[in-house]
Amino acid sequence: MTILWKKDGTSVDDALHRFMNSRDVEADRELFLFDIHATAAHVRGLGRIGLLSDSDVSTLCAELSRLGDRFSNGEFLLDERFEDAHSAIEFELTATLGELGRRVHAGRSRNDQVQVALRLYMKDRLVRAHDHICDIAKRLLTRAEREHDVPMPGYTHLQRAVPSSAGLWLAGIAESFLDSADACAFAHTRVDSCPLGTAAGYGVNLRLDRQGVSTELEFARLQVNPLAVQNARGKYELAVLDALGSALLDVRRFAWDLSLFATSEFGFVTFASEFTTGSSIMPNKRNPDVVELLRTSSAEVEGARTQIAQTLSLPSGYQRDLQATKAPFIRAVETTLAALVVTERLVDGFALQHERMRAAIDADMFATDRAVELVTNGVAFRDAYLKVARDLGALWDRTPEESLVARVSPGACADLCLDELQARLGLAINRLKRSPL
Ligand code: ARG
Repeated sequence: MTILWKKDGTSVDDALHRFMNSRDVEADRELFLFDIHATAAHVRGLGRIGLLSDSDVSTLCAELSRLGDRFSNGEFLLDERFEDAHSAIEFELTATLGELGRRVHAGRSRNDQVQVALRLYMKDRLVRAHDHICDIAKRLLTRAEREHDVPMPGYTHLQRAVPSSAGLWLAGIAESFLDSADACAFAHTRVDSCPLGTAAGYGVNLRLDRQGVSTELEFARLQVNPLAVQNARGKYELAVLDALGSALLDVRRFAWDLSLFATSEFGFVTFASEFTTGSSIMPNKRNPDVVELLRTSSAEVEGARTQIAQTLSLPSGYQRDLQATKAPFIRAVETTLAALVVTERLVDGFALQHERMRAAIDADMFATDRAVELVTNGVAFRDAYLKVARDLGALWDRTPEESLVARVSPGACADLCLDELQARLGLAINRLKRSPL
């Protein structure tokens, strides 16, 4: 075991060490490279205020980069020997560079160190999620264009309501994802502040070049107050999960629609075979397991949000409880990314059964069209409504296609405003910059 804070009179108990650290070390594997990156910036900052010489800085940075490589290729394992990624990095630097490694921690605490690694991780994953969400929206819009005039029943209360189109359904899901892309961009702006250089939560008696370090790490601003940094832990995680959770609500709705439309009762959707599995006992079955597992991803993120929110019932400043926000957070983020990658593929992974969808539009569903037509002839809407309700049989000779071309309100079937949605997508794409890692 390698313990940073070991000094005379302290003892370490194996079982208690494992209780406190073993799961945390696993979560820290996701943060390790971000910590290396931030540690190099911290080292250069110490150089700028004269605490390390130029050659110390370059020796340390070269060793940090080597450690990052050793970690990436599996030569260095972050495991239970260590309390966390932070102490592991310092230990390794000291093991290879001796006394120089022992100088690195001047002016910082693990409390701001963990946060800077988490912020870099959050920003990186938000950009990735945002890119996937934009790609999902793009694919949905392409498909909406291709099938814009394909009739499909529109439901409310899961009851047949009015004729609609595949284009309207697909573009509707695309626009929801565009909202979620915005949510990721907002969350990114919110967490884009540098906590490094606030130490344990009360600053240090050194004129640290905090702004320089922040700029080097490409943060938009400094998080100024050291205690505000500690009090943001968990809260920022919730902001990120709020944005990702929004995307997973879209995924869940899309998956729900698909699994419903794929039932024999609907018969609107057939999946590409890789999106289905068989049953171990029922030879006839093809099950939509992929969409079902996509549907449940949102539950995991919601669970993580609850766990984090409960953990935050704390006074100001660092408390070790805060560590317990890390593992659920990282797991939820990684689950979201995996779900988004699969959703990207899913958009083109099913066929719509045009004839079945058209045949499910029955004559009663033209009632609203008829009532609105009477309004354009000067009848008050409530009177038109009653008149049409009295004689639904008169609607038998209408076709879904006629209904769709007449639905000209902006955004509706005859005018899906796909250009507007494409323009919004165009502004969203590349608005967040990938991190250098
Ligand atoms: N693993 C710890 C966490 O995530 C790192 C910070 C430890 N700080 C401390 N004062 N023990 O919170």
